[in-house]
Amino acid sequence: MASQGKQSKHVSLAFLVACWFVLLSSCKANPISKTEIEALLKWKESLPDQPILKSWVAHTNSSASSPCKWRGIACNNEGSITEINLAYAGLRGNLQNLDFSSFPNLLHIDLSVNELTGPIPTNIGTLSKLQYLDLSTNSLNGSLPLSLANLTQVYELYVSKNNITGELDRRLFPDGTSLSKTGFLSLKIFVLQLTKLGGRIPEEIGNLKHLVLLALDRNYFCGPIPPSIGNLSHLTTLVLNLNELTGQIPVNFGNLKLTQLFLSNNRLSGSVPGEIGNLSSLVNLQLAFNNFTGQLPQQVCQGGKLVNFTAAFNNFTGPIPVSLKNCQTLYRVRLEHNQLTGYIDQDFGVYPNLNYIDLSYNRLRGKLSPNWGECQNLTALKLVGNMISGKIPKEIVQLGKMGYLDLSSNQLFGEIPEEIGKLSKLIKLILKDNKLSGEVPAGIGGLSNLESLELSKNMLSGPIPDQIGDCWKLQSLSLSKNYLNGTIPYQIGNLRALQDLDLSFNSLMGRVPPQLGSLSDLEYLNLSNNNLNDSVPTSLGSMVSLISINLSNNNLEGPLPEGKIFWSATLEAFSNNKDLCGEIQGLRPCNSSVKKKRGGNMKSKLVIVIVASFVGALSLSIMSIGIFLFLEKKLSRNMLKDESTSKSENPFLIWYFDGKTMFEDIVEASENFDDKYCIGVGGTAKVYKVEIPGAQVFAVKKLRSMVAGIETENIKSFTNEVAALTKIRHRNIVKLFGFCFQEVHSFLVYEFMERGSLADMLCSEEGAKELDWATRVQVVKSVAYALSYMHCDCVPPIIHRDISSKNILLSSDLEAYVSDFGIAKILKPDSSNWTTIAGTYGYLAPEFTYTMAVTEKCDVYSFGVLVLEVLMGKHPGELITNLHSLTGTSVPLKDVLDDRVPPPRNQKIADELALMQNLSLSCLSTNPQSRPTMSSVCRQLEMHVANN
Ligand SMILES: *[C@@H]1O[C@H](CO)[C@@H](O)[C@H](O)[C@H]1NC(C)=O
Ligand SMILES: *[C@@H]1O[C@H](CO)[C@@H](O)[C@H](O)[C@H]1NC(C)=O
Ligand SMILES: *[C@@H]1O[C@H](CO)[C@@H](O)[C@H](O)[C@H]1NC(C)=O
Ligand SMILES: *[C@@H]1O[C@H](CO)[C@@H](O)[C@H](O)[C@H]1NC(C)=O
Ligand SMILES: *[C@@H]1O[C@H](CO)[C@@H](O)[C@H](O)[C@H]1NC(C)=O
Repeated sequence: MASQGKQSKHVSLAFLVACWFVLLSSCKANPISKTEIEALLKWKESLPDQPILKSWVAHTNSSASSPCKWRGIACNNEGSITEINLAYAGLRGNLQNLDFSSFPNLLHIDLSVNELTGPIPTNIGTLSKLQYLDLSTNSLNGSLPLSLANLTQVYELYVSKNNITGELDRRLFPDGTSLSKTGFLSLKIFVLQLTKLGGRIPEEIGNLKHLVLLALDRNYFCGPIPPSIGNLSHLTTLVLNLNELTGQIPVNFGNLKLTQLFLSNNRLSGSVPGEIGNLSSLVNLQLAFNNFTGQLPQQVCQGGKLVNFTAAFNNFTGPIPVSLKNCQTLYRVRLEHNQLTGYIDQDFGVYPNLNYIDLSYNRLRGKLSPNWGECQNLTALKLVGNMISGKIPKEIVQLGKMGYLDLSSNQLFGEIPEEIGKLSKLIKLILKDNKLSGEVPAGIGGLSNLESLELSKNMLSGPIPDQIGDCWKLQSLSLSKNYLNGTIPYQIGNLRALQDLDLSFNSLMGRVPPQLGSLSDLEYLNLSNNNLNDSVPTSLGSMVSLISINLSNNNLEGPLPEGKIFWSATLEAFSNNKDLCGEIQGLRPCNSSVKKKRGGNMKSKLVIVIVASFVGALSLSIMSIGIFLFLEKKLSRNMLKDESTSKSENPFLIWYFDGKTMFEDIVEASENFDDKYCIGVGGTAKVYKVEIPGAQVFAVKKLRSMVAGIETENIKSFTNEVAALTKIRHRNIVKLFGFCFQEVHSFLVYEFMERGSLADMLCSEEGAKELDWATRVQVVKSVAYALSYMHCDCVPPIIHRDISSKNILLSSDLEAYVSDFGIAKILKPDSSNWTTIAGTYGYLAPEFTYTMAVTEKCDVYSFGVLVLEVLMGKHPGELITNLHSLTGTSVPLKDVLDDRVPPPRNQKIADELALMQNLSLSCLSTNPQSRPTMSSVCRQLEMHVANN
């Protein structure tokens, strides 16, 4: 009992003390913080309303109104504001109404990564105690106010990634007034002039005697680097890259204690002062993409601390810096595209940490030293375009982390080491344009991650090893211009990711392996200038991705296969062979009437009537024969062997799967389309999930009804068209495996997608949350790639005509796939493209209602709607019509984004979302001509990635 009483006494005492303390501090703080509060509130008032400043409210009760508890504000013991930290807060507005002179005790300002615009106010110079100022990654413009020179206590100053144009040319403002003083009206005019004139970094920056770090990168500063920076004796980090600076590096930089000097991507010139070599603490030196000449500073690694060194894309001449030889700390070195001289075996040593080195396009000589094999952390070695000779040392295969080895365009000779297969992480192996001899080592089959193998322009002989078929990730294989002989290994047909195959200018013999026909991603095939004979396998006609083929200068004979590439290629692709025939102008027509007839029919003009009431339906006259196409991978090889099937006169192709038609299997597995397998119902079709024992799971779309109207002669061309659709292979397009039209049941067989449609995901609360911003960015990109593929890479182009969130399906890992070509019609250049209404209301391009003309631009419009839908989490509805009436004003991204997902925190994602919003607006242009093409959309999305 006694102890309890004691405790409560303690508590009440503590309470008293606390109360008294609060009273005291609010008492003392009031006079100071009143002006501070007013200054903050005045600023808040001038800004657009934003939730982030919700806590910034003055209460009549004076103790509650202490700004010290407001978001982003910190105070000293006296209650005066010392810190304003609103970094990454999505803050919008400008700084013009923030009266810095009201904060006498401010030490720390961090407003980085926001959306602030306008100039930096001059009165920032009144913050005489300020130690830390970060305004980076905003959209601030105008000049750096000269008053910054007053901030003599600042030790870190960041203005990176803004639109600061530097100080105005002194001739315009002789009195040194900064832009922000010149008044608002004239501001715009001056900003305009400024962007033309550019502006300098003010010489006065040299007053900031305590500066340790100065970052002005990614702005529009031009003119020279002020030499006064060389007097900042505490400066260790200077970041000036990505501006438009000219002139030379001030010589007095050699007096500094710099550890990091970033000057890349400017227009600096002259030679780099040798004094830079005095910077004995230098860790990171970035000089790339300028116009420097003369020698590299020879003592650059004198201090033995250099980690990252780039001087690429300049005009440096002279030797490799001597101090690099024993610079054990090196991690990343880029010296490519200069005119450096030296000996690769003498000027470089062993670097245990080295991760990346590019010395390409210089004038280096000497041999490749076995020492490179000891740089155990090397992931990329690029020595392209030098004069390096000698053999490839076998020690190089000890580089277990090597991903990118490019030794092309040198004078290497001898054999490729057999052990090369041990470089199991290798992604690119580029040895072209050397004097390598001997055979292509069979060990190459061990490169299971290899995507690119280029050995062209060497003196390699012997056969192509069969093991090449084990490099299953290969996308590009070039062995041209060697002395290879023997036959083309059929195992190349296993390389399903292959896009580019060049075996030209060798002495290859025998038959073109029919297995090449299964390279469904292959775009370029060059087998020209060999001794290949026999006929061209008909399987090559089914290579849907092929853009270019060259079989010229061989001994081939017989008919050319049928397939889009063989219809569109020119004579040159087949010239100088033994006796090829076909329908290409200049070739002898084949006698075989079967071939001719089939070809003629395929090309015949096609009329499909799509009945208006069945939006999305495939319609066809009732047929008594079941037609089934099934292009399963396993199967296609059997088909290739059994070519008699495809030569048969039967107009209806019937494919079998394990001896039975898939038709029966599907009817059986779905228990005659029992509702328990139904996973979706549309206006025209029901979708069933069908699992066939021993095969995979399919989504089977059963069309509700068949409609008479197609004449028998058109059935064949129609089936050809759908057959062509089954051949589309793209990462982001749901595979259409086959179809069946029959009296009782008519259905399409698709790849099954676990997560259902994007529309359903966005509808549900959990679904929407699961689709975070990174995933949504990926969804938009995937759809863009798929559409670009259909529009540009398919011949003839395919227009989807019904892009909507219902037709975008998601796989188990939330990758997006475009689905349902139910009403897509193959666009042939010679056929008119009018049709009855098709597509989903709310996604239809406006011109469609009056012209009925279907072009790629209709898909672009629907894509625009879809992008907004992905950003907003719901169909944009009315917003689209408003967009057109409010041309010029854009809705801020923040107001658009789906609020069920927290706002993007990653700047890159936020930038990508903003780009997508902008792209969607141009896609939604009422004028089809002003909409971008899908390939341009993809390019812009990719360019954005490349720039980051
Ligand atoms: C520089 O600081 C002084 C003294 O603190 C102050 O009077 C002056 O107004 C400041 N100059 C500018 C341009 O802000
Ligand atoms: C920044 O300046 C560039 C070039 O002057 C301009 O294209 C861009 O729109 C500006 N950005 C902002 C946010 O003002
Ligand atoms: C190198 O110098 C030549 C002529 O002196 C010039 O044409 C070229 O543009 C320079 N290269 C770079 C990268 O500045
Ligand atoms: C690079 O410098 C050379 C001479 O020093 C000059 O002729 C050339 O125009 C400069 N190139 C650029 C891109 O500034
Ligand atoms: C060196 O460059 C790498 C890659 O760009 C970077 O991750 C690393 O932080 C840099 N190291 C230093 C010390 O600058």
